[in-house]
Amino acid sequence: MPLIIKSKLPYTGITIFTEMSGLAKQYDAVNLSQGFPDFECSPDLREALTRAMNAGHNQYAPMPGIIQLRESIATKTEKLYGKKYNPETEITVVPGATLALFTAIAAIVHSGDEVIVIEPAYDCYVPAIELCGGVPVYSSLQFPDFSINWADIRSKINFKTKMIIINSPQNPGTSAISMYDLEQLVAVTQDTNIVVISDEVYEHIIFDGMKHQSVALNDELAARSFIISSFGKTYHVTGWKTGYVLAPEPLMKEFRKVYQYNAFCSFAPAQWAFNKMLQNPETYLSVSPFYQAKRDKMEQLLTPSKFKVLPSKGSYFQLLDYSAYSVESDYELAKRLTIEHKIAMIPLSSFYHNKKDDKLLRICFAKQDETLIKAAEILNTL
Ligand SMILES: Cc1ncc(COP(=O)(O)O)c(C=O)c1O
Repeated sequence: MPLIIKSKLPYTGITIFTEMSGLAKQYDAVNLSQGFPDFECSPDLREALTRAMNAGHNQYAPMPGIIQLRESIATKTEKLYGKKYNPETEITVVPGATLALFTAIAAIVHSGDEVIVIEPAYDCYVPAIELCGGVPVYSSLQFPDFSINWADIRSKINFKTKMIIINSPQNPGTSAISMYDLEQLVAVTQDTNIVVISDEVYEHIIFDGMKHQSVALNDELAARSFIISSFGKTYHVTGWKTGYVLAPEPLMKEFRKVYQYNAFCSFAPAQWAFNKMLQNPETYLSVSPFYQAKRDKMEQLLTPSKFKVLPSKGSYFQLLDYSAYSVESDYELAKRLTIEHKIAMIPLSSFYHNKKDDKLLRICFAKQDETLIKAAEILNTL
């Protein structure tokens, strides 16, 4: 008898990143689709990793991470956001933000619970919610500045709402929340049992002097929130898949109950290496100006093109409005440009559950200048 598999994610295929990166490879296209740098990380970081391996840090790390790194994360968080997290009980080092998001959702969401997802959304939230039997409830960011529609969110909160996931700086919307948004989040969650996941993987990539509004800045929010960050983004090593989670002890206790069985610990040598880097705050404080220069360069390079660059407040992405160039759907256009013009970008519609098409393509500018120049040369001819 043939094996019958009842899929737990029947409508899920491969991710758009896998599809577009595969197409980019097949057609030898300039790849601005997936979000990763095409340049090397700091030699100091590579040396610190080698040193950690040579020093014998090659066995399981403690489940929540080496205490030295947790202490350094606590110091950084207190300095930047004024909030003290206890390294013993409130900080866990994890193999990447994606696993942290999954674990936090699995720890909190019961079957039938509703989770508010703000769209366009990073694509791992919804499958995690659905695998846990949760129900995603969608709220769209407002076009074209991708700000949060608090009235809409308020209208969607009911007794079944268990969680709200926010993300700032936002991928793919490239917006960033303000103090007003934090106040609104306090107001909509007050007197509820709602848990917040704050995806802050781009906390160190924010532009034009804006201050990252971590939920750690607000005591009421911090008391109900998981904050998730990623060393992969901050230190240009997405392939190292290391991040961390901050949460008050009762939430972290539930998180660790799941985490001890779905990963147990993260790559030990990288923890020593990141701890070394955190001793020098310049290593993370210099990331915003570094990427701001790339953002500005890309915008300037595209001045002669038919593409309108929407302002990017943070993350290493920009959105291109192509409505002056084509009436095609964003998905068809992204595919055609990869195949015919050898440039790969991500259609924004893939970040909406209903494939809403605002005629926008997302590009990643975490690339060497020569890659950006090559990309602009192609786009300027269209
Ligand atoms: C908004 C957002 N959250 C989470 C992640 C995942 O981060 P990590 O690579 O650390 O799993 C990404 C990566 O692109 C992201 O853009």
